[in-house]
Amino acid sequence: MGKDVIIACDFASKEATLNFLDKFTDVKPFVKIGMELFYAEGPEIVREIKARGHKIFLDLKLHDIPNTVKKSMAVLSHLDVDMTNLHAAGTITMMQGALEGLTRPDGTRPLLIAVTQLTSTDQERMENDLLIKEPIDKVVMHYANNAKIAGLDGVVCSPLEAGKVHDTCGKNFLTVTPGVRFADGDVGDQKRVMTPEQAKKIGSDYIVVGRPITAAEDPIAAYKRCVAEFVD
Ligand code: C5P
Repeated sequence: MGKDVIIACDFASKEATLNFLDKFTDVKPFVKIGMELFYAEGPEIVREIKARGHKIFLDLKLHDIPNTVKKSMAVLSHLDVDMTNLHAAGTITMMQGALEGLTRPDGTRPLLIAVTQLTSTDQERMENDLLIKEPIDKVVMHYANNAKIAGLDGVVCSPLEAGKVHDTCGKNFLTVTPGVRFADGDVGDQKRVMTPEQAKKIGSDYIVVGRPITAAEDPIAAYKRCVAEFVD
């Protein structure tokens, strides 16, 4: 499983997304498509970006009853995405259903990654709103382990948690990590960040990078810098 840089294409429309991707002529980066773009443009945006030769992480974070998730994952699998995700909070049974739905008749399937606790959920919100009283680190590792038990490929986590996830779930269990910034770049609204080089050292398998590339004056140079620091 090769390390790679995934560009978060957090654009509101197909036009803005394709304008951005048009800049990439000699390389075809792995891209992440989230809910905003998918709900605005529908599955056609996935087919179009795929037809241009990009790998796609479809970040829709499914969470529903196992049967519904299984059937929805079968639809996403037909779309030929390379990676997709769900909430580990949906239970091991839901995650197993998702894997079944994703698996194509020939046995191949997209990578399936779990979200543990969203980084927008802190200890206080988890205790008061969700009535989960354990320390958040323990909850994150427990959910990661549930994802592993269900047969998933890895989790989305902070680069700061990637080492511990590998210690808990094994080094082949993938860590997909947002919250990446260049040493000399803007942090923006991300709180706990790492450079691509640090993420590499700590053992992230994929970094998800949005604004440091999409808002750069020269997105190609910024993407290549990420690859040089993280992959090469
Ligand atoms: O622009 P930036 O590099 O901050 O984008 C990071 C991407 O990763 C966004 O699409 C964001 O929604 C996503 N993400 C995140 N933190 C998480 C999970 C996903 O920043 N815990």
